[in-house]
Amino acid sequence: MTKTVYVLNGPNLNMLGMREPGIYGEKTLEEIGEDCRNTAKPLGLAVDFRQSNHEGELVDWIQEAGSKAVGIILNPGAYGHTSIAMHDAIRAIAPLPVAEVHLSNIHAREPFRHHSKIAPVATGMICGFGPQGYIMALHALAARV
Ligand code: DQA
Repeated sequence: MTKTVYVLNGPNLNMLGMREPGIYGEKTLEEIGEDCRNTAKPLGLAVDFRQSNHEGELVDWIQEAGSKAVGIILNPGAYGHTSIAMHDAIRAIAPLPVAEVHLSNIHAREPFRHHSKIAPVATGMICGFGPQGYIMALHALAARV
């Protein structure tokens, strides 16, 4: 059976490449997706890579992952700082492993980014390593599933 990891990306991450490159780097989301697929293959994992600007759609995908995926890599974007709905969705699919990823080091930025509503219900969080964080998260999940 194929072991699929859902890689879910939240609002504004579709703008990567041109969005504040000094903070988020020059890679596009499409290129990050390609890197994820290439990393996942030799780990015996498939990647379902998605992005949405809509909180409800992200909640739907988290719920869907509960029955279709072996784990989730979630960059919630700004919703990570606010979304009780995504927090609850992750609780609802426990114990599915969830790796929260942020490209930037949210703790080194504005105070309103220091808190994550996802972190208390995630298996772990990686932030500040740019796109490499997704690769690290794939390895971490592969070791668990
Ligand atoms: C982000 C950090 C968030 O604070 C921000 O709102 C984003 C991107 C990151 O990957 O560094 O959209 O999740």
